[in-house]
Amino acid sequence: MTILVTGGAGFIGANFVLDWLAASSETVVNLDKLTYAGNLETLASLQGHPHHVFVHGDIGDSALMTRLLAEHQPRAVVNFAAESHVDRSIHGPGEFIETNIVGTFRLLDAVRGYWSGLPSDRQTAFRFLHVSTDEVYGSLSKDDPAFAETNRYEPNSPYSASKAASDHLVRAWHHTYGLPVLTTNCSNNYGPYHFPEKLIPLMIVNALAGKPLPVYGDGMQVRDWLYVKDHCSAIRRVLEAGRLGETYNVGGWNEKPNIEIVNTVCQLLDELRPRADGSRYSGQITYVTDRPGHDRRYAIDARKLEQELGWKPAETFESGIRKTVEWYLAHPQWVSNVQSGAYREWVQKQYAAGNP
Ligand code: NAD
Ligand code: DAU
Repeated sequence: MTILVTGGAGFIGANFVLDWLAASSETVVNLDKLTYAGNLETLASLQGHPHHVFVHGDIGDSALMTRLLAEHQPRAVVNFAAESHVDRSIHGPGEFIETNIVGTFRLLDAVRGYWSGLPSDRQTAFRFLHVSTDEVYGSLSKDDPAFAETNRYEPNSPYSASKAASDHLVRAWHHTYGLPVLTTNCSNNYGPYHFPEKLIPLMIVNALAGKPLPVYGDGMQVRDWLYVKDHCSAIRRVLEAGRLGETYNVGGWNEKPNIEIVNTVCQLLDELRPRADGSRYSGQITYVTDRPGHDRRYAIDARKLEQELGWKPAETFESGIRKTVEWYLAHPQWVSNVQSGAYREWVQKQYAAGNP
């Protein structure tokens, strides 16, 4: 048996692939374009793994996707591939439209072609799981109830609008063509291998480098935070038992304002790697101009996933954030390679040698 994962060299996709192969002997075909966010070094431990096949490519390449599906005959496709950073989408929305909307469309169409040619028992068993975000629901006021699956889509950034569009395409491919799809809408992830452009890894990396810790606006924007491995376990559970055509919200019941997150990171670093001059890392916090159109609050109601499928996160925020800070302290080489671009050279070399 085989599954096809797209975007499996990125933060969540790589964690998913690593966790999957640690627990299953089912082959993973891992298709990734290796944008700035895709990092094969994250998958280095899979070098020579008999059940991991890495393919460098684009979900929008219909011919490649059609060939891969025919060659590997997966029983499921899990689509992580996307442009994922809100700030980048504000500066350059084009890539977000191309990958998140056009790419998802091309992928869906290639998958539909493959799926419709399968014998009926394999058609019935097949799944296309689309990994999406809570940002499609827009922004909440302080007292609004958390996002339920029935909330209206009200995306506010080019990123969230592109993800919303992709969710609609997935839905349409189910209703119109019968493709057996599932969609998950998750809150903010954190954990190992997170690219240091996102809040938590950026704060850790900047703090250790003695750089300012840039907090947007008043720092009182609220996000719900989930440890990445809990997101991966939710995806596995939905893949296994989710109802076709349904969407499932995934979250950690863990709403926190950004400034509290940054202070927690600073306190953990004070404990685990105190500054040489004895001062506190929080002294590096700097308030900067707010993100345009910055959503004020996200909160996830994950009861459908918990009650229907029995999923629960394993980590509390306290345990997860400590593990995360410890991971970054233990992996300075990964961070510096990602930052210096040296990992790109490593990738070139790695390709010359074959698949990891
Ligand atoms: P990421 O930016 O770390 O990784 C994205 C991966 O997709 C990279 O490896 C990149 O090379 C690859 N990719 C980009 N364009 C591609 C294309 N055209 N074809 C093939 N591969 C391509 O993102 P992430 O944080 O791991 O997010 C993964 C998915 O989860 C995304 O769909 C994102 O919208 C969603 N999501 C993320 C979060 C979060 O907090 N990070 C929360 C909810 C949902
Ligand atoms: O909610 C799920 C989403 O979470 C995912 O769909 C996105 O792919 C993922 O990037 C994330 O989006 P956010 O915009 O919430 O994440 P980010 O880490 O960029 O920012 C988190 C919060 O911290 C947000 O309110 C902006 C703020 N921030 C961020 C950065 C990078 C700062 O205050 N300073 C910063 O330097």
